[in-house]
Amino acid sequence: MKRFIITEDGSHSLFSAQFNQQYHSLQGALNESEHIYINLGLRPALENGPVSVFEMGFGTGLNAFLAWKLADQLQKQVFYTSVEAYPVSMLEASQLNYEEATGEKGFMQLHHAPWGKETGISPFFYLRKEITTLQDFTPDRFFDVIFYDAFDPQAQPELWTEEIFTKIAAQTKPGGVLVTYSSKGIVKRALAAAGFAVERHKGPGRKAHILKAIKL
Ligand SMILES: C[S@@+](CC[C@H](N)C(=O)[O-])C[C@H]1O[C@@H](n2cnc3c(N)ncnc32)[C@H](O)[C@@H]1O
Repeated sequence: MKRFIITEDGSHSLFSAQFNQQYHSLQGALNESEHIYINLGLRPALENGPVSVFEMGFGTGLNAFLAWKLADQLQKQVFYTSVEAYPVSMLEASQLNYEEATGEKGFMQLHHAPWGKETGISPFFYLRKEITTLQDFTPDRFFDVIFYDAFDPQAQPELWTEEIFTKIAAQTKPGGVLVTYSSKGIVKRALAAAGFAVERHKGPGRKAHILKAIKL
């Protein structure tokens, strides 16, 4: 069971006792997802046509929900693959206020979608969720955009290594981008060593920096 959090912009998040980590920034879950994953990562990529996204950590499904709604709004196709090792329960998901926070409908469709197979959620949004660790996941396609949303490097150092980013880089198209909330030195160095050109961008709210890394 995860604990519920109300973040500063009024949107919900969860707290994992297992990792002693919250799923989003306390300064605003919705604001963080929009700023980093949607506006820095997905939106610019959609200017060039259909986009395949890989998300590390499906979690609450907030990033996927926002990606779906942007795809529908722009009428551009998004093929969204997400891995999750410790899924939230239906009960926990059903209590999240993301429909109210965004004014959009259908959030629970993402949670009801089956694991392990691609599901058309709309004509513009195709979701494939896999219950697996990132370490055990074998991707079968190349991605334009990576939403790298693991718990932070102190909690899960094994997910922020050169080795793991090399695996991700191998599945990222040249010119594709990885966006993440962590701008720690070890993350920048591991991404650079794995073949990404790393850029620092202004973070959401009071957060100074986030990263956008471009696959060389
Ligand atoms: C920061 S939260 C993700 C938040 C999520 N993107 C959202 O929008 O709610 C990190 C997620 O990674 C999952 N996770 C932790 N270790 C993992 C691993 N080794 N492989 C895959 N998922 C993992 C956690 O269960 C959690 O859901």
